[in-house]
Amino acid sequence: MPSQTPPDPLAAVPQRLQDKVAIVTGGGSRGPGIGNGRAASILFARAGAKVLLVDRDLSAAEATLAMITEEGGEAATFEADVTSEEDCAAMAAGALDRWGRLDILHNNVGIGSRGSVVDLDPDDWNRVLEVNVTGMMLSSRAAIPAMTASGGGAIVNISSIAAMRARGLTAYTTSKGAVIALTRAMAVDHAGDGIRVNCIAPGPVYTPMVGAGGAMPEELRERRRRASILEIEGTGWDIGYAALFLASDEARYVTGVVLPVDGGVLLRGPAR
Ligand SMILES: NC(=O)c1ccc[n+]([C@@H]2O[C@H](COP(=O)([O-])OP(=O)(O)OC[C@H]3O[C@@H](n4cnc5c(N)ncnc54)[C@H](O)[C@@H]3O)[C@@H](O)[C@H]2O)c1
Repeated sequence: MPSQTPPDPLAAVPQRLQDKVAIVTGGGSRGPGIGNGRAASILFARAGAKVLLVDRDLSAAEATLAMITEEGGEAATFEADVTSEEDCAAMAAGALDRWGRLDILHNNVGIGSRGSVVDLDPDDWNRVLEVNVTGMMLSSRAAIPAMTASGGGAIVNISSIAAMRARGLTAYTTSKGAVIALTRAMAVDHAGDGIRVNCIAPGPVYTPMVGAGGAMPEELRERRRRASILEIEGTGWDIGYAALFLASDEARYVTGVVLPVDGGVLLRGPAR
């Protein structure tokens, strides 16, 4: 259950996730560098959580594990594909077997797409929805009973500002819109179990997913940076810190929200 009293502001700041157990799906990164899932995993571990790094690419999760253990944090890897019901069940059981409870599910896995409904191959459309939406449903379905048995917890789903600002990534936009609706529905469904469900909508952050590490032309990188009204470049850490707040008891009164972390990209209208 969420804590019944607000944190004492005068108390020494405790480790925000002390004694909590977290699952991060897509806890690796598709390349060297810091993706959103990797950043959240490292920050959760720094805050005292034990983190199960779930990824279909075990070597990617192992790279995150090495970063966490080097800092003295506690984590383990788990190979699973979030589109498999069996894998998701094994993932939740894996956290319980190892640490005896489950408090946090960070649903970070997501893949991109390009093109309109006319351009898109229906199989590619289905794959994007399967990974980005059904994967989140399956991991939540597996984790929620374990979280309920642990007295409640927090789920953080990763959407995108592409859900609100379309730009020719139509399957992706559709899937990320569904993540927002799923977040709200799950927040209502599981409030009685003491589970908060929130969503982050990242803006154009510079991560391995979008080609950090060299694949993105400098001109495009600069255009993405300038899309922020702050004219700064977002990183995986910015998304990770937002996830850390939403996962912690400091957010005990926050559920069902969509938090854009985008440097204000969504705010700006057309130039006059
Ligand atoms: N980078 C951006 O600009 C941006 C913007 C908006 C939203 N996002 C969202 O952020 C999330 C990803 O962030 P990231 O930086 O960690 O991405 P990433 O592409 O580096 O992915 C992290 C990991 O997910 C794993 N993965 C992919 N499919 C999987 C599956 N079916 N089952 C299990 N693991 C799987 C990959 O192996 C990878 O290691 C996505 O949901 C994405 O849509 C990113």
